[in-house]
Amino acid sequence: MSNLEQTLSIIKPDAVERNLDDEIKEIFKSKDFIILKEKKIQIEKSEAEKFYKVHETKPFYNDLCTYLSSGPIVVMVLEKENAVLANRKLMGATNPKDAEDGTIRKKYGISIDKNSVHGSDSVENAKIEIDFFFKD
Ligand code: CMP
Repeated sequence: MSNLEQTLSIIKPDAVERNLDDEIKEIFKSKDFIILKEKKIQIEKSEAEKFYKVHETKPFYNDLCTYLSSGPIVVMVLEKENAVLANRKLMGATNPKDAEDGTIRKKYGISIDKNSVHGSDSVENAKIEIDFFFKD
């Protein structure tokens, strides 16, 4: 049965800074993701704090929000069958050191913070995250 989903993807500052955004977009397209919407923006730290609110009790929360707002990012709505899981598989483990060969984080990630991409972790969060960046 068909299960077309949408998920939110962010190409993070470390990757945009290295001009990897086009290359990473090509990877998504080559894996049959359709980029429905995209924009390159820089967000305020206060917006990063809202976006990552689920992590607010974590010790890394402050650094994470400083980092996401430190430079331009590319935010995209990706569509594909089972897009949430497919994107998580394609990104690889959060820590690039643990990511499998062939994943985006293995190829481009620098550290657990500078791990090049973010992707929604559930269909429910995908809706919230897509609304966060693309609500008109
Ligand atoms: P992301 O998928 O964007 O979601 C939250 C981010 O927090 C995660 O990627 C990592 O870049 C970052 N992070 C930093 N430290 C940790 C940690 N110890 N565990 C999980 N995520 C971390």
